[in-house]
This record gives sequence, structure tokens and C-alpha cells, in this order.
Amino acid sequence: MERHGNEGTAGYLWERTPRCSITHLGNSRLTGNLYSKPTKMSSLRYTRALVAGSAALRGVARQQVRQSCNTCTNRRCLSLAAAALQRTQVKMSHPPANAVMSATRTSDSLHLVFGDGTSSDLPYIWLRDNCQCAQCFSEGALGRKLLMQDLDLDVKPALISESDRGVTVEWTDGHYSEFMGEWLYDRAFTPTSRTRRRHQFAYTRKPWGADHRLPEYDYERMMKDDKVLLDWLITMEKKGSAMVKNAPDRDVAGPELIEHIAYVKPSHYGPHSPVINRPDSNNVAFTNAKLGMHNDLAQYEHMPGIIFIHCMKQHIGTGGESVIADGLLAAEILRKSNPEAFHVLTSTDAYFWDKGHANYSWEMPEFYKISRHPILTLDSNNDVCRVSLNNAVRDSFLDLPAHKVKGFYAAMKLFNEILYDNSLAFKMDTGDIMTLDNVRCLHGREGYEAFSERHIESSYLDWDEARCRRRRLQEKLGVNDQK
Ligand code: OGA
Ligand code: ZN
Ligand code: ZN
Repeated sequence: MERHGNEGTAGYLWERTPRCSITHLGNSRLTGNLYSKPTKMSSLRYTRALVAGSAALRGVARQQVRQSCNTCTNRRCLSLAAAALQRTQVKMSHPPANAVMSATRTSDSLHLVFGDGTSSDLPYIWLRDNCQCAQCFSEGALGRKLLMQDLDLDVKPALISESDRGVTVEWTDGHYSEFMGEWLYDRAFTPTSRTRRRHQFAYTRKPWGADHRLPEYDYERMMKDDKVLLDWLITMEKKGSAMVKNAPDRDVAGPELIEHIAYVKPSHYGPHSPVINRPDSNNVAFTNAKLGMHNDLAQYEHMPGIIFIHCMKQHIGTGGESVIADGLLAAEILRKSNPEAFHVLTSTDAYFWDKGHANYSWEMPEFYKISRHPILTLDSNNDVCRVSLNNAVRDSFLDLPAHKVKGFYAAMKLFNEILYDNSLAFKMDTGDIMTLDNVRCLHGREGYEAFSERHIESSYLDWDEARCRRRRLQEKLGVNDQK
């Protein structure tokens, strides 16, 4: 590690970045932060720090005139004033958790120790890739401008200087990068930081079985109170299921709620579908037949993430009851109890298809979808990340050798049995909107008499939009319960 300065004096940072000049005060982002109160500092302590800082500054200024300073066009550096104030703050108080306490060079990484005692290696390639300067990164678009073709895998620093506020790196090609301590701390390659980001991406799903009770939400409260909406969004990520009560008696009540969250995900059936016993029906769901447990639109490569099943009018008498199950739980039971069947369902690509014509003007006049995917999709961690099964649209074409066909059916039948063994059945009331994670939970319904006035409306929301809204609401409301 480069040591140029007299550590412990207020001016050491300036001495360690010898090209810096007092005329560049205010030039640097780090310098800019000098004048804003650190968020964790009380106003009183901040005032004291400023007073003490200015005293230190007078001493530093005397040193400064004795230093010769070359031109440093396009270079950023910590100013004298920043250095003085930082030293004073560090002396006065416990350093913030994200303060950089030390930076040590290794062959391919910078080893940082933070104010809370945690440490991390930060590979040089990663630091250079994430240079925040205007040439490498667009502050407005929050996107990288640096091109992969311009990234040198063996990039090395020529000069490093650290302070409790951050790290500055001068690379061997003369490029200059500044990183704030907070920015580095958040992204450090530590288990805590990696877990925090994973949870910001998505909540951990909590499997449920037959004893599950659907969490209930009031439609108007979801529309009017962001805290209630956020609660629903988090519940949907964790449990994949909830019942929204007291929806208005409008066929667009589901889409209106979805539009309040983000956007409706349309399909060839339009933005929402009347699930009624239709004459000349273009889907088995739009008849009075019993529907086995299924995911909606398995015939799509990009299936909708969340389904909204709005009960506008329930069938009177026996029939029309709902049944739901957690496909995640069922998949894990299958994995344990019959690994071979689990392997079949995770490794066999099945076709799902849907060919037809519009029943209504808002539907696609002629459609012909074919999707191809396993019923259980695994992610790179071998976790089930998608359940996609729909017996009505499962294709009769099988891309399998004949001797594997029976095993495929046996695995599907076993999975279906596990789903029903761990399911719950109930009858939706008029005004209920059942919301389900459509790539995790499955739903079905009992058949009902043909003349019934039963009327369900279904509509969809994608997970990208739901999680996006959840993150923004968490920021807005200052809530960060990410477990
Ligand atoms: C569907 C469906 C449920 C119901 O339309 O895909 O599952 O209760 N409907 O009719
Ligand atoms: Zn840069
Ligand atoms: Zn359905």
C-alpha cells in the first residue's frame, strides 16, 4: 500500500495525493459531502465537528502552502478541508459502520476494513468496472457507460488512498476512481451484504399446507393505504396467496387494483376475462366443467406472475368451490419422497398449447400459442423457481421416446396427488378477489350447473412490476423488514 503521508495529522490525505491543490476545493464529490451533515450525526455534534474542523484546517493550510502541487486536471481528490473535518470527526466519535478504516493491497484485490469491524476483499476488476466517474457511469441513468471491451481483466491500481469517507484509486493507465465508504460497504463481498441484496431482490418464500389460512385484505384499504398495499405485496412474495375482500361490483375491479399497483398483464384473452359458462367457449375454464389444480396460462413462455380471481357472482348451491395448493411445498415433498419422479418433472420438457378464436371483441381474433418447459423449473441453486402445470392445455404431442411416457404420467399423477393432499378448499364470496402467485400456487374449481349465473373475472399482474412497487414503497415508507 502506498504511504506518502504523515498519518495522524489532519493533512495526511492531501499529502498522500500530492497532485491535489486547494484550488480544487469543491471539485470532488467527496469534498462536496463535507458540507452536508452526516446522517448519523446530531446537529450539535456536527456543529462541534465543524468548529474543530476549521481549527484543524488552519493548521493544514499552513502545511499546504509549503507543498508544491502539480496540475491535476480531471483528477478528483479529497480536499484539505474534507480531510481535516474527517480526522476531527473520527477523533470525536465512533466511526460510522461504513467508514473505511483501512485499505490494504493484495495481488488482485483491495482489502478493506470498515468502521464496524467487518472486512472484505474488493477485486480490482470489480472496482474498475464500477468506477463512478462521469466517463464510466451515468449518474442520471444510474447505468454503466464503461464497455466490457474496454475493461482490462488485469487492471491494477498505481495509487490508493483511503479515508473514513471512502477510497480513491489511481489506476496504472492514469484513470482515477472515487468510491464512497457507504457505497463500498453496501456492496462488500460479505455474507451480510450479499444476503441484504438477495432479500431486496425477493423475499424468501414460506411454504404452506392444508392448514393455511388465507391472509385477508380490504380492497379499499389497499387502494388508499400504501402500508396495507405493501403488506399485501410482501405477503404475496412470502406466502403467494391472499384474499382481497369487499371488491366493488365492477368487472374491472381486479384490473383497477392492478393498475393501482402497476400494469395489467394482458393475454390473448384480453386485459381481463369473464370466467362464465360461455357458448362456443375457447377455453375449458370458460365452461361449467370441473378444473383440476392448475397454473393459468402455462401455454405462455412468460406466464403471468400473479393471478387475480374476482368472484362477481358465486354459484348458489353445490358447485363452483375453489381449491388451492402451494406448488412449492408439493414439489419439496416430491423431491424427498420420490427423487426419481422429481427428476422427471424437472428435466422433461412438456408442450402446452392453446389454439382458438375470439369469443369477444377484446380477445385476439385467432391465436395459436405453444410453450415448452418442464413442469417444475429449477434455478441455479436447485430450488424450484417455477411451477407451470395446466392439464387442460397440456399438449398431446410429447417430445419423448415411447418408453419414457408412462414414467412421465406417473410423475405428474404423483405430483397431482401431493397437491390435493396438501390443499385447502373453500367457496369464494361475491366481492372476493383471490390473489395467487401463479408460478408457485395452483388453483382449481368444482364444476357447477350449466344454467348458473356464476361469474368470475380473472386478470394478471407480473412479478417484475409487483416487486418493483414493493421496493419503491419500502423506500417511501422507510420500512425495510427484509426476511
Ligand atoms: C380459470 C379459473 C377459477 C374459477 O379461469 O382459469 O381457474 O373459480 N377459474 O372459476
Ligand atoms: Zn471512471
Ligand atoms: Zn385458472
